[in-house]
Amino acid sequence: MKITLQNLTKIFPPRKGSADKKDVYAVNDMSFEIPSGKLVGLLGPSGCGKSTTLFMLSGLEMPTSGKILFDDQDVTDLAPEKRGIGLVFQNYALYPHMTVEKNIMFPLTNMRVPKEKAKEKALDAARLVQIEELMNRKPSELSGGQQQRVAIARALVKMPNVLLLDEPLSNLDARLRLQTREEIKRIQTETGITTVFVTHDQEEAMSICDIMVVMKSGFVQQIGEPQRIYDDPANKFVANFLGTPPINLFHGTTAGGYVLIGGEAVAESPSSAAEEPKNVVVGVRPEGFVYDPEGPFTLRTDHIEVTGRDKTVISRHDASEKPLVRSIIDADIPLPEGANELRFRLKPNKVFLFDAETEERLPL
Ligand SMILES: Nc1ncnc2c1ncn2[C@@H]1O[C@H](COP(=O)(O)OP(=O)(O)O)[C@@H](O)[C@H]1O
Ligand SMILES: [Mg+2]
Repeated sequence: MKITLQNLTKIFPPRKGSADKKDVYAVNDMSFEIPSGKLVGLLGPSGCGKSTTLFMLSGLEMPTSGKILFDDQDVTDLAPEKRGIGLVFQNYALYPHMTVEKNIMFPLTNMRVPKEKAKEKALDAARLVQIEELMNRKPSELSGGQQQRVAIARALVKMPNVLLLDEPLSNLDARLRLQTREEIKRIQTETGITTVFVTHDQEEAMSICDIMVVMKSGFVQQIGEPQRIYDDPANKFVANFLGTPPINLFHGTTAGGYVLIGGEAVAESPSSAAEEPKNVVVGVRPEGFVYDPEGPFTLRTDHIEVTGRDKTVISRHDASEKPLVRSIIDADIPLPEGANELRFRLKPNKVFLFDAETEERLPL
């Protein structure tokens, strides 16, 4: 099922009792297509409008303006139960007094599907999420990860056209989160159900999504494959939001064909050769630094973290926007012991320039 959002907008009146009397523009003029059979992530910081978008797709929230199409059908005014969707929330919302089996069967018994048929379908869904041995337990007898699988099975039991997941992993501990996200990817690939996955965790979105929609303050910032967005961010916000450790940002200038930071020409900038000097923000991914005693970029070393696979040199620089600069280098590259300063050169494809005012991306 292909999903199309056309100029989708949601404005909330000010909340009752809230000091702020202004309308909230939760989602602003959002237009994009979700291709059939893909796992698409809505990614952005808390409050950027992810859940509101998902609720409009589900029909639980009506848009102020704009349209939603499922394939060629306009579903904007269609009731949630007629849209053929499965929904999963952060808090599993299972019925505590019912067994796992009854929980999974619930959407079917609610539709008056005969009991034997409902049992059969519940078992299929349970097998898909690999909880078929837990059918007779109550939710309180399950781990968080198992409960979330039950919620996913319940969302899948009607074989929806669209699966909508709102921060489904947020209540799980780190290890389970990793495992369950891989499960979601497997289930989505096996079923081929068009899936929209909401998260504020960029690593989570990058690792499982076919396509990411990066949002900020109700506006779409960039849409594309995770690697493509990471390698070619549209603006400073997107560059800064993706990547662990995050990108390093410096106040700099472009002049005479070079990128200058604190008086050092750290990279070439062919596009600036014939231009007036310009203030820019220079982004350098941590993996973009190459240790080089003759390199042009000098950083004041604070300390070095060793992970085994690589080393992170943690430094300071007066032009850095953030207190610390992080450079990741191979574990087997020897560094001089106790040096107060280390010099680096930069990999050009890991250096991004942004307009100092608009924060939009500029060519190198
Ligand atoms: N029912 C509501 N009434 C008023 N404001 C709301 C309501 N629901 C969400 N908002 C506001 O809309 C914005 C987007 O919220 P939401 O979609 O929940 O963000 P996210 O899921 O990305 O954290 C926030 O500023 C939030 O406070
Ligand atoms: Mg939310």
